[in-house]
Amino acid sequence: MNSKIKVLSVFGTRPEAIKMAPLVKHLASRPEFESLCCLTGQHREMLDSVMEIFQLKADYDLNIMQVRQTLSSITSRTILGMEEVIESAQPDLILVHGDTSTTFAGALAAFYHKVPVGHVEAGLRTWDKYSPFPEEMNRTLVGDIAALHFCPTINNLRNLEREAVAGSKFITGNTVIDAMQTTVRPDFVFSVPELNALDFQSRRVIAVTCHRRENYGEPMRNIMEALRELALSHPEVELVYPVHLSPVVRECVFGILKDLPRVHLIDPIDVENMHNLMARCDFVMTDSGGLQEEAPALGKPVLVLRRETERPEAVQAGTVKLAGVEKQRILELAEELLNDKAAYNAMAHAVNPYGDGHACARIAQGILWHFGRLAEKPADFGAAR
Ligand code: UD1
Ligand code: UDP
Repeated sequence: MNSKIKVLSVFGTRPEAIKMAPLVKHLASRPEFESLCCLTGQHREMLDSVMEIFQLKADYDLNIMQVRQTLSSITSRTILGMEEVIESAQPDLILVHGDTSTTFAGALAAFYHKVPVGHVEAGLRTWDKYSPFPEEMNRTLVGDIAALHFCPTINNLRNLEREAVAGSKFITGNTVIDAMQTTVRPDFVFSVPELNALDFQSRRVIAVTCHRRENYGEPMRNIMEALRELALSHPEVELVYPVHLSPVVRECVFGILKDLPRVHLIDPIDVENMHNLMARCDFVMTDSGGLQEEAPALGKPVLVLRRETERPEAVQAGTVKLAGVEKQRILELAEELLNDKAAYNAMAHAVNPYGDGHACARIAQGILWHFGRLAEKPADFGAAR
């Protein structure tokens, strides 16, 4: 009964790694747990960079990534690879994070071996199964498999209640806010010379990312056209865009934005460089989930380059606006932030609906409670239910 609880954390993409790293480390620091980590390797360079920054070593690495990989290949290679890992590690609990194909396949592999699953960042929903694609379906299916649901916000928990999802539910805050406690520093020096050369005081620096599958094709072209016009018509603007390594994304981005003045198309940067870029920029334009959570915590307005969001909390708080994927609307909203100081100030206040930096500790307590090692269920983050 006093043996350690063996927790195997499974993740494979950059955002999962950034959000799971503090949890893997937290569990490892506590005597009640044995904390193991299995990378699927759905991403490679972008994943390895996170492991390096957080000084984490994988116990297992399935190394599944292929150039232009398909959803079926990620899913099938993960499920097959996990077989040996689960048989060798014999975990008491498998943790997965969020909504990627690694998340879904990792949870399904755990289910096939009758290992209970804990879902970190549970309960996010758009209620549209094709947007985000395939993430909405991935997280919904993991909701059915999981025994433990670690919801960042009360809104996420209510989504699960609405679906009558079984299992224990906790409101923990998002672990990304835990991660930001160590990455954001006022004296940070970028490791990318182009970023050190930027004058963040006198220039209007906009941080940009865009990678989602449902934006492939026309929506992504519209977004790039809007950015092109913004750069050409605003000499005070510097667009800093670390471009995702997906060849589909890179063809579109470089095809439209290459060699434009004041447009900095750089390779993906490590998470410390990214968080500090956001901390110093004017505002953020993105279709990323993670950036929608991080930028509000830093007091930076966000224009979301999507039709919907599963993160309505910062929209309600007024720091995030849904810009959609039409060129004209995106331009209008960006110009408003550039030209209208009152509109900018109304969005640029720091809010933290997504966490208080103690999500990992709450998740650890939740696991202890689930395994009968704690008498009381841990208190929720934020508002009472
Ligand atoms: C995946 C997730 C998405 C998440 C995103 C974070 C799925 C279906 N999608 O999308 O939810 O928001 O990660 O970034 O799980 N590549 C490299 N090196 C890397 C990473 C990617 O070369 O380190 C290239 C490969 O050619 C790969 C392609 O990018 O085939 C796409 O990667 P993939 O993981 O399939 O999709 P993402 O768009 O990254
Ligand atoms: N990020 C990073 N380097 C970059 C771009 C993003 O470290 O060049 C970080 C970002 O700060 C956030 C995470 O990656 O923590 C978001 O990942 P991504 O946008 O790829 O996926 P999503 O959050 O949309 O699933």
